[in-house]
Amino acid sequence: MEMQIENKTSTISHENGIVYPSDKIMLDLKDLKKVYPTPKGDYVVLEHLNLQILKEEFVTIIGHSGCGKTTMLSMIAGLNSISGGNIAVLGSAIKGPGPDRGVIFQSPSLMPWMTALQNVLLGVNRVFPHASKSQQKDIAKYYLHKVGLDGAFNKKASELSQGMQQRVGIARAFAIKPKVLLLDEPFGMLDSLTRGELQDILIEIWNKEKITAVMITHDVDEAIFLADRVVMMTSGPRAKIGDVLNIDFERPRTRKAVLEHSDYYKYRKHLIDFLEH
Ligand SMILES: Nc1ncnc2c1ncn2[C@@H]1O[C@H](COP(=O)(O)OP(=O)(O)OP(=O)(O)O)[C@@H](O)[C@H]1O
Ligand SMILES: [Mg+2]
Repeated sequence: MEMQIENKTSTISHENGIVYPSDKIMLDLKDLKKVYPTPKGDYVVLEHLNLQILKEEFVTIIGHSGCGKTTMLSMIAGLNSISGGNIAVLGSAIKGPGPDRGVIFQSPSLMPWMTALQNVLLGVNRVFPHASKSQQKDIAKYYLHKVGLDGAFNKKASELSQGMQQRVGIARAFAIKPKVLLLDEPFGMLDSLTRGELQDILIEIWNKEKITAVMITHDVDEAIFLADRVVMMTSGPRAKIGDVLNIDFERPRTRKAVLEHSDYYKYRKHLIDFLEH
């Protein structure tokens, strides 16, 4: 893994030319590059990607399929190596995965033979090894309760519906109390009712825990409803941040109020125009 920190490459044009005070920044992606070696030669997925995400911010990421969204998120998670540039959490360069960053994928990858509670406890035990067994259980139960799984603590993951499994995934991610929650199309496979309900749960816990959330979505409405800022990635190869849209709706938001707001269609048009180019 090669880190380029020479100054001559740091003609960084932060999106919109805005410079944030460093004590407000949670995540700093600087001149990020990702190259996948392929049989036909190197494939440069991301290049000159600069993005700063603030503490307690909710950022959604949109971009065409294959542009490199998952690649970027998995690099932030520390699960995918960095080919150039760097990623810092609270000013320190990441060196792999860590409990400061929780991840929720499209399918929650639970241990199918374990119960909902045991699945959440797996994460809790790892991150809070010195807590007593009953404290660990209380944490896990608290988050399972938050995601509406009161009656299912002792059900095996394999016996849960997809929506319930994703609820366990959300509970597990929050229960390890990360500073940053990374979500890769977490609701993509769910019906729209469950999706709406889980969006509300996600926002409620995010707001309460005061963490930073970065979520990839294909859904423009979801991107607007959840975000403080929507980040648009250009199409690959050599994808980078193409544009950033501030969503100024006050919180807490309701779907109805967002849909009725006069700015809603302006935001929507902005995103769709970007994607259609
Ligand atoms: N391990 C890998 N080796 C080689 N190429 C890869 C690898 N992982 C991803 N790619 C390629 O990198 C590009 C970006 O992939 P990525 O999964 O990050 O896109 P994405 O924006 O998340 O797409 P989607 O919206 O479909 O999930 C794609 O062209 C993909 O084929
Ligand atoms: Mg993806």
